[in-house]
Amino acid sequence: MNKEAFIKDYFVDRRHSPSRKWQGLKDDEIALSVADMDFASPKSVSLGLKEMLELRAFGYTALPFDYFEVFKNYYLRHHQIAIEKDEIFFADGAIAALYHIIDCFLKKGDKILICPPVYHQFANLIKTSEHTLVISPLIKSKRTFIMDYEDIENKFKDGVKLMILCNPHNPTGHIYTREELERLGDLALKYHVYIISDEVHADFAYSGHKYTPFMGLKKYEEIAFGVMGVSKTFNLALFAHSHVIIKDPILKEKFAEFLKVHHLGNPKYANALASYYAYRDGDEWLEVINAIIYDNYRFVASCLDEMGLYYSELEGTYLMFIDLKEVLNETKIEDFIAKWRISVNLGKVFGEGYETYVRLNLATHPALIKEVMERLKSLIKE
Ligand SMILES: Cc1ncc(COP(=O)(O)O)c(C=O)c1O
Repeated sequence: MNKEAFIKDYFVDRRHSPSRKWQGLKDDEIALSVADMDFASPKSVSLGLKEMLELRAFGYTALPFDYFEVFKNYYLRHHQIAIEKDEIFFADGAIAALYHIIDCFLKKGDKILICPPVYHQFANLIKTSEHTLVISPLIKSKRTFIMDYEDIENKFKDGVKLMILCNPHNPTGHIYTREELERLGDLALKYHVYIISDEVHADFAYSGHKYTPFMGLKKYEEIAFGVMGVSKTFNLALFAHSHVIIKDPILKEKFAEFLKVHHLGNPKYANALASYYAYRDGDEWLEVINAIIYDNYRFVASCLDEMGLYYSELEGTYLMFIDLKEVLNETKIEDFIAKWRISVNLGKVFGEGYETYVRLNLATHPALIKEVMERLKSLIKE
């Protein structure tokens, strides 16, 4: 399907729907905040769910007999890693998965490292689960953000027990290379620090950049947890469903026991079913949506270049990290955005030092992106 036909068929005007990011906005405001899309999921998902509803028998239900095979084939097709049935555990979304791993393997108060600017829920969950937040800020390097290995090593030495890695990275759009992951993995092995690799943005990669699943690096299996799911990929956040991938037998056994004792890890059938149909039949949909997002990115990038504004290169994800410093002058960023008449996530929620940044969601209709850029241009001219 070509991009134009896809947009016509799949764009959903969510303005007056119960969408978290659109609800409550004024009629002329445009929502580019929360990380979901303004596009319908692949048709196989609604057809599959319709079939389930039409059966009208909502008793205890099993996963489709080929659920694990379908997931395995998806990961083999897209990311060249084999994930076996006994390596998969379920959670009600990625954040729930992170909580479960932390609760299982750490004691209250243990140190957990994150590298800001990063998805703001990481810091929140470390605090609310009563662990100690340790940060190692990323370093801005040309058009991307990289880890400060020397600082990370010092923090590991100082008693960090676990690190949450975000790859592909929200909000900077960076996809860590194999070399970057190995450098981190070697440090984690040396100091025996667990790594949770949150890979929910795995399926968006552009312009030759390739995501490497951390779980695919055999050397690090004894410290590694992968968190995967298609809430982002196929716009299925409503059906909170994710996979925790563990390959090491000892970690697997401990996690399985933890889930059993806490009566967790049982998938919600309808939620799992939504993911199943997308994994099985969503390839073409995904290819087109990647192309639409990348077009949106290139358009925004060219406008920002004209305006002399910094942004990080979109290697992956559909979120763009932009510095408005050059145009803010004395204006408070909140006031500037109110005049822009859009809603976005402010950089300061992702980490200290990013007060002049915004995160902009590119997974929407190109006409809206165009309108947002036109408004920005005229605002700057004022
Ligand atoms: C890196 C990252 N992890 C987790 C989530 C939330 O995932 P879930 O809705 O599956 O809990 C998001 C949502 O934006 C995210 O960007």
